[in-house]
Amino acid sequence: MADWDAKYAAAPEGLFGTEPSQYLRQIVARSDFKSRSCLCLADGDGRNSRWLAQRGLTVASVDLSRVAVVNATALDLAAGVHVDRTAADLDSWRPSAGASFDAVFLMYLHAPTPTRMTAIDAGWQALSAGGWLVLEGFAKAQAAGEAGPGDPTLLYSLAELHGALPEASVQEALTGRVRLDEGARHQGLAEVVRFAVRKV
Ligand SMILES: C[S@@+](CC[C@H](N)C(=O)[O-])C[C@H]1O[C@@H](n2cnc3c(N)ncnc32)[C@H](O)[C@@H]1O
Repeated sequence: MADWDAKYAAAPEGLFGTEPSQYLRQIVARSDFKSRSCLCLADGDGRNSRWLAQRGLTVASVDLSRVAVVNATALDLAAGVHVDRTAADLDSWRPSAGASFDAVFLMYLHAPTPTRMTAIDAGWQALSAGGWLVLEGFAKAQAAGEAGPGDPTLLYSLAELHGALPEASVQEALTGRVRLDEGARHQGLAEVVRFAVRKV
């Protein structure tokens, strides 16, 4: 199990760089993406949530690592934005009753299958009608030694995502090789899954 607190403690300036995920940016640039509020799950030290808040969205975020949340809050302050941050384990975290978001982002959560599926379900339950759930992560087809974890049970496939959200309206469901260029840790060729669905 990764010691996320130790990793974030060693990189207070941003463990995955300061720029948002390129896929998240791509979704937000779509003309039919009109979300004004969002929830970022497994948000780390907040490169994605902060960028969304800077664009005027109302943003809430959850991550397991308390150190990541402390670092993220300091980076928010320096950037002059507010994100409602919670340190919690997505294995058991549920959105508060009545919480509703126009978009949910789940970028690079690599955890055992039950945790990933629970997080997807929590995000889906928190989504308003018409809202977007957007996920990116390393794929099970990833070769050993490439970026990301080597354990296939921590990785994604489109089949498991379609199975988890059979009622979702699929906007994009892609898997393939990309050359990542996101901070020092997401660099080089990788097999990824990119999945964007809406609640109809
Ligand atoms: C690869 S990082 C990605 C962080 C962020 N989404 C990004 O793209 O910069 C994975 C994150 O998942 C978080 N994480 C892992 N297991 C978790 C769990 N069970 N509940 C909540 N967060 C978890 C870690 O703390 C870490 O911040």
